[in-house]
Amino acid sequence: MKRRQFLSTLATTGAGTMFLPHVTLFGANAPSNKLNIALIGTWGRGEAHFGAISTENVVALCDVDEEHLAFGAKRFPGAKTYVDWRKCLEQKDVNAVVCCTADHTHAFVANWAMNRGQHVYCEKPLANTVEEARVVRSTYLKHRNKLATQCGTQRHEYENFNRVRELIRDGAIGQLESVSTWGNRQIPKPGYLPAAGEPPKHLHYDLWLGPSPFHPYNPGYFAGGPGMNCLSWNMYWDFGNGQIGDMGSHTMDIAWNAIDAALPVSAEAKGEPFNPEVAPVRLEMHLQHPANAWRPAVRVSWYQGGAMPDSPVEMLDLNKIDHGALFEGSRGYLVSGFNSRAIFPNSNHADVTHYHRRSEDKLIPKMNGFQQEWITACKGSLKTSCDFEYSGNMIEQMLLGLVAYRVGKKISYDGAAGRVTDSAEADALLRRTYRPGWTLNG
Ligand SMILES: NC(=O)c1ccc[n+]([C@@H]2O[C@H](COP(=O)([O-])OP(=O)(O)OC[C@H]3O[C@@H](n4cnc5c(N)ncnc54)[C@H](O)[C@@H]3O)[C@@H](O)[C@H]2O)c1
Repeated sequence: MKRRQFLSTLATTGAGTMFLPHVTLFGANAPSNKLNIALIGTWGRGEAHFGAISTENVVALCDVDEEHLAFGAKRFPGAKTYVDWRKCLEQKDVNAVVCCTADHTHAFVANWAMNRGQHVYCEKPLANTVEEARVVRSTYLKHRNKLATQCGTQRHEYENFNRVRELIRDGAIGQLESVSTWGNRQIPKPGYLPAAGEPPKHLHYDLWLGPSPFHPYNPGYFAGGPGMNCLSWNMYWDFGNGQIGDMGSHTMDIAWNAIDAALPVSAEAKGEPFNPEVAPVRLEMHLQHPANAWRPAVRVSWYQGGAMPDSPVEMLDLNKIDHGALFEGSRGYLVSGFNSRAIFPNSNHADVTHYHRRSEDKLIPKMNGFQQEWITACKGSLKTSCDFEYSGNMIEQMLLGLVAYRVGKKISYDGAAGRVTDSAEADALLRRTYRPGWTLNG
């Protein structure tokens, strides 16, 4: 029944007076318009989503740790509970999924959910290998006319992201030439932890390992506090990719939002010697991106763990910014943290007369909450800021940089085909092997 028809039926029967005064039937939160959400990972980062999803019907919860599952069930007592996300996604009424699992299952959950017609909010990083990023992106592009996706880089809602984009697009530093991003988080690890007995009864450790190769249980992988436990496992290659997937996802987003890039044509990287078990602390990578309609080709760089770009301005100490971005243009520099920014014009352009401030009505509008943007998108607009195309491309370039680091040389990339064209060794590292029984795009 159409909305107008329904209202007119209510009016003529008088039924409306019985229940209309206290509820909004057709608003975004009308019962019929609520999402049926499955939350996968119900503790730690999962808890950060409780508030946003509580406006919807949370119909399913999944966690490999039954104690964490009970924690989620206390908040959402009506939801069915699961320990295996594959079973959870089969629940028929689920139409949207929030994934807060460990990194090595993100691309799996995202693909499986989209293939079942479910909208997806996936915590960062979206993927652990170039292949995973590509498959998630192409699954999304296949379904983009009916599914909304958002990758969990929630700092994107800060107004600073809009201001930086406007300044770059409006030529405040002239023509963009390069952008460097960096993060100083350092979590050195010696190697996979030794076997330390049986996992506790409440933890389905084999499901936690999921598609990754077997490593014996050690409580050290689960020793972190809520929302910080990712730091207990994300340095190990089979579970994460160190700072690339951790703060790198957030920090590169400052740059990515402003440069309208897709996939690079080459990657090179250097850092501490490669360790087959653990991601590097110190690393820098450089990705060459082709020109687009409004700027020339640019170099995009990422520095971590003590590696830093040189400051182009004597009075600017980049080390004082723990996670930041430096844009270099023909007429000056823009440096940005997550929340604030500063412009340093070249001496030749110190008057900044080349720059014309845009009028207030042309400013990029403020986002009304990052998780809310996804929920609204699921209900109709399908528009999000960090969909799996935007975020897939962003993480793919950084994961390609990690491949360049592993082979220790500059590599050329065919982004359309997803191939390293000048190194078979690097090309083989675009993907990883999964344990039997696990399918990336099921
Ligand atoms: N956006 C952000 O600012 C932010 C902040 C912290 C963490 N994160 C991301 O969130 C994710 C979780 O981080 P965390 O620190 O909460 O980690 P965590 O190890 O505490 O895991 C979160 C929850 O997911 C459960 N889980 C893990 N693997 C699972 C699986 N295969 N199936 C079902 N449940 C599973 C865990 O038991 C736990 O309850 C990571 O990918 C991390 O990168 C994002």
